[in-house]
Formats: sequence, structure tokens, C-alpha cells
Amino acid sequence: MNLILMGPPGAGKGTQAENICIKYHIPQISTGDMLREARKEQTKLGKEAESFMVAGKLVPDEVVIGIVDERLAKSDCQNGFLLDGFPRTVPQADSLAQILTRRNKKIEAVVSLDVPDTLVIERLCGRRVCGDCGASYHVAFAPSKKEDVCDKCSGGLIQRKDDSEVTIKERLRVYRDQTQPLISYYQQKGLLKAIDGTGTVKEIGERIGKALEAVV
Ligand code: AP5
Ligand code: MG
Repeated sequence: MNLILMGPPGAGKGTQAENICIKYHIPQISTGDMLREARKEQTKLGKEAESFMVAGKLVPDEVVIGIVDERLAKSDCQNGFLLDGFPRTVPQADSLAQILTRRNKKIEAVVSLDVPDTLVIERLCGRRVCGDCGASYHVAFAPSKKEDVCDKCSGGLIQRKDDSEVTIKERLRVYRDQTQPLISYYQQKGLLKAIDGTGTVKEIGERIGKALEAVV
């Protein structure tokens, strides 16, 4: 299954993506994770993306389209994939359609998580991520067993640089301006599955599961 998972920052895309990918045996392609990895390794791409990400702005379209095009060419995408956080602009969505047409593929569903701003801020201010393996926690909603230590690899937990309240507000503004128009873009194509993103991880997962039943 070829899927897109969209929603504002902190909507729970990464959290839900993990379960969807296990269920459908497809890789999670998160442009945010790929860019953070490049930043950590201080590659040319990472250095280019750094200032945009820290400020809560979007990395230029051509940069992100290039990394997605390359990633989709890998063999693990043969039987499907889940795009987490891409596309984020209309030009990115148009380019994705062209990339997929070239490969004789198409998007089968776009899951859009709907979460109010107040909850986004609560979720992101409390998020902690493992500096080593990238596992994600929340100080109140999904705490690690030992404070600031990753359950999976014992690495140290840190706060993402863009998870400060000022930057979260900028990310929300950017989402509204540049990404939200994709909701009607995909609705017009009959692909949109709008999902209530409030409630527990399990409840939201069940809503997504139900919406995707009709697709497979
Ligand atoms: P990206 O990494 O994609 O960030 P984002 O879209 O802002 O989303 P997040 O990863 O912050 O949130 P999420 O929805 O994954 O939520 P999560 O599951 O972690 O992008 C970062 C930056 O990279 C962008 O700002 C931009 O600069 C650049 N970039 C990336 N893609 C780009 C593109 N296509 N074009 C241009 N630039 C791009 O959950 C959040 C927290 O809430 C966690 O702590 C979690 O435990 C908790 N939580 C989740 N679900 C629940 C629940 N149901 N109940 C309680 N807590 C919950
Ligand atoms: Mg994420």
C-alpha cells in the first residue's frame, strides 16, 4: 500500500506511522527523520537544512523532493511505503505525482490527522527523543522507565531543537499556510481520510485501521 500520513507538527505522525508500517509491512519514509540524520552527520544536505529546521521553516522544495525521489527508488519500496511529513507543499505534491507516474505507481490513501493547537503544544513541549536511536517519548503521556534514559538502547533522551514553544508556533503557522492546502488537494482526488487525532494512541490507531480497511 502506498500511503501519505499528514497532519500538523505533533499530530502523532511518527507514533502512528510505526504501527501502520508494522501492520502493512511497509517502510516509513520520514523526511524530518532523514533531514535530522543528515544534520547529525553534518553532510552537505544536513548543513543546508539546519537553519530552516531550527527556525521551524520548511527546507526548500527541490532539496526535499530530491531525497524522496532517491529513497523511493530503493527496493524496500517495491511493495508499498508510508510517507510521513511529505509532501508539505503543493509543488511537492505535484512532484510526487510525477515521480510515482514515472515508476508506474500511485498514492492509494492520504491519512490526515486532525489535532487542535493546544494539544500540539502539550505533546511537543513534553516530547523527548533518544539522541542515539531516535525513539520517541513523552514526559507525561509516554514516559521512559528511567528518567531521561531510552528504554530501547539506554541512550540519553533529549529535546528536539525545534520543540520550543516559540518554534512550535512558527511550525503551526507554516503548516497552516503551506501544508493545509493539501487537504483539499487530496480531497478533490478522492484520496483523503480525515482522522480525529485526539485520544489515546490506540484509539487513533483503530480509527486509521478502519479508514484503511476500505483501501486494501
Ligand atoms: P518533522 O520531523 O516531520 O516534524 P513535524 O511535522 O513538525 O512533526 P513531528 O515529528 O514534530 O510530530 P509528529 O506528528 O511526528 O508527532 P509524534 O508522533 O512525534 O519535520 C521537522 C522539520 O523538518 C520541519 O519543520 C522542516 O524544517 C523539515 N521538513 C521535514 N519534512 C519536510 C518537507 N516535506 N518539506 C520541507 N521541510 C521539511 O508525537 C509528538 C509527541 O506526542 C510525542 O512525544 C508522542 O509520544 C506524543 N503523542 C503522540 N500521540 C499521542 C497521543 N495519542 N496521546 C498522547 N501523546 C501522544
Ligand atoms: Mg515526526
